[in-house]
This record gives sequence, C-alpha cells and structure tokens, in this order.
Amino acid sequence: MPRIPRSWLFVPADSEKKIAKALAGEADAIILDLEDSVADANKRDARKIAAAALRDADRNGAQLWVRINPLDGRLTESDLRAVVSARPYGVMLPKSESGKDIATLRRMLDAEEGANRIRIGTTKISAVATETAASLFGLGSYTDVSKRLVALTWGAEDLSAALGASSKFDADGELSFTYKLARSLCLAGAVAAGVQPVDSLFADFRDDEGLRADCDKGRREGFTGKLAIHPAQVPIINAAFTPSEAEIDHARQVVELFAANPGAGTIGLDGKMLDRPHLLQARRVLERAGEDVPG
Ligand code: COA
Ligand code: MG
Repeated sequence: MPRIPRSWLFVPADSEKKIAKALAGEADAIILDLEDSVADANKRDARKIAAAALRDADRNGAQLWVRINPLDGRLTESDLRAVVSARPYGVMLPKSESGKDIATLRRMLDAEEGANRIRIGTTKISAVATETAASLFGLGSYTDVSKRLVALTWGAEDLSAALGASSKFDADGELSFTYKLARSLCLAGAVAAGVQPVDSLFADFRDDEGLRADCDKGRREGFTGKLAIHPAQVPIINAAFTPSEAEIDHARQVVELFAANPGAGTIGLDGKMLDRPHLLQARRVLERAGEDVPG
C-alpha cells in the first residue's frame, strides 16, 4: 500500500455485498458512505453495517474511511457515535465550507475519541470541499486547522445543484468554467494546506478510455489520487497515479544531483536546466513512489 492513497473507492455503507467486494479489491482507500448513496430510511442500518465492517477488517489492507453526513443536518453526531469507536482510518466530511467546519468536526472527534478512550487525534479527516456555493470562497482556509486533515477533494454534482445549474457541462460537452474553477481551487487549497489533493470521480464507470484520460489530466495538474465509484475503476486509477520507472529514475537523478552540489541553485542535466522547482517536483515523485526522500 503506498503511503499516499491513489484510489479512493466509494461504497454505499448499507450494502454488505459491495463492502465485501471492495475489501477484496485493490483500492488504497475505501470510503464507506453514509451520505448521498444511502436513503434516509437506511441510515441506521448503514451505520451498523459500517461499524461491523470496520471491526472485522484486516488492518494491513486499505485505509478505511467513513463518509459521514454534513454538519448542517442532524445526522453527524449519530454517525460519529456509531463509527468512531470502531476505529476507521478517518472520516470524510461532505459539503465542507471552510476550515471552520474542519475545526467543528475536530472538536466532535475529540469528544467521541475521549468517550471511547481512543488517543485524541487518531481519526483523520478528509473533506469534499466544493459542494456548496459558499464553499468556493473557503478553499484557502484549510491551512493549519487540524493535523487530522489529510486530504481535500471536490465534486461538481452537488455544486451544480446548489447553484441551480441545469447542467455542469458546456454545450460542447466540456465541464463548465465554474467547475473547473472549483477543481483548481481545491487543488491549490489542498497543496497550500499541505494535504493530498484528490481528484473527483469519473461518473461513466463503463468508459475505461475516458477514465484513463481523466486520470492523466488530473495527474498532470498535480492531483495525486482520485475518487472511484466502481471497482472496475480502481486498477486504472492505481496504474495512472503510480509514477513510472522512468519518472522515478529521473527523480532520483535530480535529487542525487542536487545533493552532490549543495551550493547550486541551478544545474544542467541532459541538456536541460534544473532549478529548485524541479527538485521539489522530483521529491514529490519519490514520495508518491513510497521511497524515503533524504533531507
Ligand atoms: N463498491 C463495491 N462493489 C461495487 C461497487 C462499489 N462502489 N459498485 C459496484 N459494485 C459491485 C456490484 O455489486 C456488482 O457485484 P456482483 O458482480 O457481485 O453482482 C459488481 O460490482 C458489478 O457492478 P455493476 O453491475 O457493474 O454495477 P451496478 O449497476 O451494480 O452498480 C452503482 C452501479 C453506481 C450503483 C455502483 O457502482 C455503486 O453503488 N457505486 C458507488 C456509489 C456511491 O457510493 N456513491 C457515493 C459517492 S458519489
Ligand atoms: Mg454528494
């Protein structure tokens, strides 16, 4: 399992069958969903099934996350009460509007962990940070809110509903500017906060070529993982977000070259100029490849 999860697979938490299937697969992170994929009438059952799955799970496998319900409803506390004691790797907060929401969730987790004699801070947080109109103005506010926060992701579906859009696509089938903006702000907000930027899901789960292209686009821009909604998407995402041997070799060369020339701000390699941004880039590749990066 890489240290930075590449694939984050959503599973409706009211489906034992899908949970079993997800656990048997290759996803780096599995998100047991208590929110949008579970009907209100099934929330209670879903909490029980999620807690049981967490208790039974093999802890050397995928990171196990629970997506709870948003803070503006009345379900969040019951969600946390049901699952925190079963020790998920973390909880994913949907419809997060700013760092303030993370601080609120942090306090709720402090209380729940305290009540269960779990070390405070154990449960990590990730957030879906572009799902309301106000959330777009909060993407720069996730810095230094909580050490629990490890990832930010974005979604266009709820945002388009919130904005009253009839579609998230332009007439030519491309994602409209508003959602591209949300995506870029999420990327920059995550990197500014020092957490993983996770690209949104690709909804058409039978279109492997389309998914590959979408992964490639996200990766080139700086996302280091991607949400999935179907097990068939997982191997494609894992492959796309694994640095290739050639990339790793090149990154090693760059890091070694700078280490061998400690005073140098810029160095030539294979006829190309390298400076500090290339070193940072190379270190990121090695980190994603799970290698120890010196210095
Ligand atoms: N996790 C685990 N297993 C899944 C799965 C998922 N996310 N999605 C599908 N499967 C399983 C199916 O149960 C089926 O299992 P089977 O072969 O044992 O019957 C198999 O994979 C093939 O599924 P398929 O028939 O191709 O899809 P489907 O029509 O059953 O399901 C969805 C389509 C969209 C309903 C389903 O993929 C799903 O529930 N995705 C997650 C939705 C979600 O969590 N959304 C919230 C975030 S936006
Ligand atoms: Mg949603």
